[in-house]
Amino acid sequence: MSRKVLIGVLVISLFSFNVYAGEVEVLHWWTSGGEAASVAVLKQLLEKEGHTWKDFAVAGGGGDAAMTVLKSRAVAGNPPTAAQVKGPQIQLWAEQGFLANLDDVAKAEKWDELIPKVIADIMKYKGHFVAVPVNVHRINWMWANPAVFKKAGIEIPKTWAEFDAAAKKIQAAELIPVAWGGQPWQEATVFETIVAAKGPEFYTKTMVKADPAALMSDTMIKVLERLKALKQCTDKGAPGRDWNLATAMVIKGEAGVQFMGDWAKGEFTAAGKKPGVDYMAPTAPETGKMFLFNVDSFIMFKQKDPEAAKAQKAMARLILQPKFQEVFNVNKGSIPVRMGMSEDPFDAVARTSMKDFVATSKGGGLVPSMAHEMAVMPAIRGAIMDTVTNFYNSDTSAKDAAAQLASAVKAAK
Ligand code: BGC
Repeated sequence: MSRKVLIGVLVISLFSFNVYAGEVEVLHWWTSGGEAASVAVLKQLLEKEGHTWKDFAVAGGGGDAAMTVLKSRAVAGNPPTAAQVKGPQIQLWAEQGFLANLDDVAKAEKWDELIPKVIADIMKYKGHFVAVPVNVHRINWMWANPAVFKKAGIEIPKTWAEFDAAAKKIQAAELIPVAWGGQPWQEATVFETIVAAKGPEFYTKTMVKADPAALMSDTMIKVLERLKALKQCTDKGAPGRDWNLATAMVIKGEAGVQFMGDWAKGEFTAAGKKPGVDYMAPTAPETGKMFLFNVDSFIMFKQKDPEAAKAQKAMARLILQPKFQEVFNVNKGSIPVRMGMSEDPFDAVARTSMKDFVATSKGGGLVPSMAHEMAVMPAIRGAIMDTVTNFYNSDTSAKDAAAQLASAVKAAK
């Protein structure tokens, strides 16, 4: 090959591989089957635009491990380009001056018109966009295997009293009533779902305002007793179990139900299971009028390299575009955060969620998830979560645990 031809070939290949485009390093904790399939969509869309995706996945449902790694990278002066961070924590990162201003993308793409205001406000710091929302997850679901209920000869329960009766029959049929993931964030997820059954006022007082009097009230004692009662519905393998392995127990018909947010649906979908046929997804007992919301979002760190900044803005733009919103959310089990999307590609569970999101936002039942970092600052969440987990895994009485909740929260405030 002559020198000239060689240079020509090099130039052409440089163009076709877009080596001048930027790289985004993305920290997230989406490592289960359903989650990995969902995040792959974003990677593909970015690569189509010529950018490079450097995956920075930190396994661990609920994201606590990912947050620890993120803090140490940021302290070392080497944060990733984007990171999955949610709720009030967005403000903390922005306050410390880490985050890029995304107003230009937001303005060009009309984010203020496309995202519900309650969610847009969480993404802004002092009126400027510093994060991009991805989806809306609902927490208060009960994932049920109808074959297990059929074997036990009982209907899927709607109330906690019916649930107790069903659990006994499932046990009599030598199956496990509840697939339990014994990790603090999962126990906190079930706990807040039981709190939700007490209605929006009690939920807000305890899980959003962290009011000590409500945290040690008789109602809270009842909630804690209910949580502890679930322990006898679980199996010996529960301690430490990952959430997706618990979902697999329901998928395989080893267990009757799992209480978990709708990322669990992503696992059913990845396993080729159909709602209404292979599994049922009613809301958790007595929480039909509640919608505990959990919005995933990415914060974007300031960039020195202009190409990296370009890639970062492209990522922000793509996340709210209809194509991504559709494919990602179908895989993930969540619903689009972009308003006005067609319901056609979504299954019956997602459609219920879309309908209930609107209904509960009018009826007062739309409340932020404490366990999933949407409701209180991390120190308060930590105090609640530690107390609940210690209670669930010890002989502490519900009354003592309620008092401990109040004092732990006071100390964390
Ligand atoms: C996140 C979900 C994720 C789940 C399990 C939640 O906190 O919002 O996106 O699928 O944790 O890892």
